[in-house]
Amino acid sequence: MGAGGRPLVFFGGKGGVGKTTLAAATALALADRGLRTLVISTDPAHSLGDALETRLGDAPRRVAENLWAAEPDADAAVRRRVKQVTDDAYAALPREIMPAVQRHLDHAAAGPGMAESALNDLLVDTMERVPGEWDRLVVDSAPTGHLLKMLHMPALLTPWLQGLARQREKAVDADRFAAGMVGGSAEPEPDPLLEKLRARRQRLERAARRLREDAAVHLVLLPRRMVLAETDRAAEELAEAGFHLGPVVLNQVPESPDAAVVEAVRSRFGDRGIRCCRLRDEEPTGAERLRRIAPEPL
Ligand SMILES: Nc1ncnc2c1ncn2[C@@H]1O[C@H](COP(=O)(O)OP(=O)(O)OP(=O)(O)O)[C@@H](O)[C@H]1O
Ligand SMILES: [Mg+2]
Repeated sequence: MGAGGRPLVFFGGKGGVGKTTLAAATALALADRGLRTLVISTDPAHSLGDALETRLGDAPRRVAENLWAAEPDADAAVRRRVKQVTDDAYAALPREIMPAVQRHLDHAAAGPGMAESALNDLLVDTMERVPGEWDRLVVDSAPTGHLLKMLHMPALLTPWLQGLARQREKAVDADRFAAGMVGGSAEPEPDPLLEKLRARRQRLERAARRLREDAAVHLVLLPRRMVLAETDRAAEELAEAGFHLGPVVLNQVPESPDAAVVEAVRSRFGDRGIRCCRLRDEEPTGAERLRRIAPEPL
């Protein structure tokens, strides 16, 4: 799975369905096929290292032949992000509104969702390195709602960057006007902050485009009615947002699953493909066990 053309492979789904396990197993399978693969977690409650039975850190570390893995440091990502936004705001906005902006930023930094969104920022950087440094990037996402937010993030951030750029343009125009009054140079200098904001916006737009063109999202589900209902909604929202859905993975399938649910899964997802992973007696962690749970067609 994910061995087809698309270099970015995401796993999503409800809490506890097996996203981390499948992300690790798929990354390993891709690496075994000779593709240089990076697997990272964007769930601040990392468990990728547990799945791979190895200790992971902020920077990608080689964990097997052709396989690198990382659990990016969410706190450090939040600090970097707040600093970047604060620096931009200081440079672009009038001094008198900065205390209010600062209060808002402090509040946002401590608020829910900031760690996820900072990790997504980092994902945007990582995406730029694939293909290139790696052939495939496999992403172990936080539960579904978050995956959707992440895929929309570039669109959400663009108005903020545009707003800052507009403010800055006004200030630059005023400076140029003043410079003109006292006979300053006729050839305007490029403004470094505007250049930076423009570059950042272009980077986000590129990421949004790539999420639609180069990524496949695999939803993981269990053969249970409630999980199916939620997966159904997630699939619809993702497709509406323009994302490519790869085959779903029906995980932890017991010896005799509820036939009605399996039938419902078939009729809902059969056209895009269904892979199936048996329920194992032992937790599939570590390279050997992960290799053994490779999903098979239903
Ligand atoms: N096919 C399987 N057979 C047996 N156990 C499994 C199977 N798939 C996953 N598990 C186990 O189920 C638990 C949940 O799996 P995992 O952590 O991969 O889910 P998740 O969707 O990433 O969870 P979270 O939403 O908390 O991140 C783990 O203990 C994992 O080892
Ligand atoms: Mg997980």
